[in-house]
Amino acid sequence: MRILLTGGAGYIGSHTAAVLAERGHEPVILDNFANAERDVPARLARLTGREIAVIEADIRDTEQVTAALRTQPVEAVIHFAALKAVGESEADPLRYYDMNIAGTIRLMQAMQAVGVGRIVFSSSATVYGQPESSPILEDAPTRVENIYGRTKLVMEDLIRDLARTGKLAGAANLRYFNPVGAHPSAMIGETPRGVPNNLMPYVTQVATGERAHLNVFGNDYPTRDGTGERDYIHVMDLAEAHALAVEHIAAHDVSVTVNLGTGRGTTVLELVRAFETTTGRKIPLVFAPRRPGDVASYYANPALAERLFGWRARRDVEDMCRDSWRWQASRAGINDV
Ligand SMILES: NC(=O)c1ccc[n+]([C@@H]2O[C@H](COP(=O)([O-])OP(=O)(O)OC[C@H]3O[C@@H](n4cnc5c(N)ncnc54)[C@H](O)[C@@H]3O)[C@@H](O)[C@H]2O)c1
Repeated sequence: MRILLTGGAGYIGSHTAAVLAERGHEPVILDNFANAERDVPARLARLTGREIAVIEADIRDTEQVTAALRTQPVEAVIHFAALKAVGESEADPLRYYDMNIAGTIRLMQAMQAVGVGRIVFSSSATVYGQPESSPILEDAPTRVENIYGRTKLVMEDLIRDLARTGKLAGAANLRYFNPVGAHPSAMIGETPRGVPNNLMPYVTQVATGERAHLNVFGNDYPTRDGTGERDYIHVMDLAEAHALAVEHIAAHDVSVTVNLGTGRGTTVLELVRAFETTTGRKIPLVFAPRRPGDVASYYANPALAERLFGWRARRDVEDMCRDSWRWQASRAGINDV
């Protein structure tokens, strides 16, 4: 299939482009490069041995996206493009509503104009808010705890409504748990701007010496070692799930909402220890108070993804640490990896 990847030059999009190309699909990247490096398509071409078409556009520009889809027809869209920082969404709500919600509406208008009726959408486990218990199933109650989370829920509803009313033939809302890791080649990976919001990029930056220590927020949670527990998922497993999801909706013309996680929780201290063991780098820790809004523990029940797509995460925490480190070390010019 020819598949449009909005935000395809970003972290998860670029790994999905690589996996799609490996599986014989033809990814077409649409990105405005607001949060991606310009040479990602060239790196992908080296990695996959194939030229990958790139459309530089903003998803909110329906006219440009429609015109691009007329010259580069696709059978499905995987929609990654969004703003994703919780704190920023609370500081600038209109920007988030505009980019994420208005952007998705404009994109879908372009898709309708050219008759593309299949979409895979990047949702997030953040839609569960503070879950009552884990493992979390897809029918657990959703709760909005910040504006970023609200934009994900609104976009999911929008997509389900269009599928229900026959405007979309196939749709998959994929709720990611905590994506980490990088392509094992270290040719693509995550490049957060400024201070990383997420644990793994922070850990790798401590390991390179860019940051002095890791702040561990809260060591009095009701978990095995008192630190927060999350369901980390290797970005290559996540990318493979996208390929299977788009193949599934194309084959069956269905609308589905599916968790993508490993089903296993890892605490902050367990992740740090695995990182130290795998990489031989020491991560100095400073314990700090809990952050408001942080949840003690959550992890997925990923059984539905296995039942529908035949997918399950294959990579473990050591793989995640090793590949994250290879990527970050190569960026920092460290060669003893
Ligand atoms: N990384 C995570 O931890 C995580 C977790 C859950 C869900 N998600 C969702 O997955 C998706 C991808 O996340 P990511 O981590 O790869 O983020 P990313 O920022 O690396 O990728 C997003 C890409 O979209 C592009 N983009 C942003 N706005 C655009 C616009 N208006 N028009 C065209 N391109 C635009 C950016 O330049 C970037 O390349 C997002 O929707 C995010 O909300 C991410």
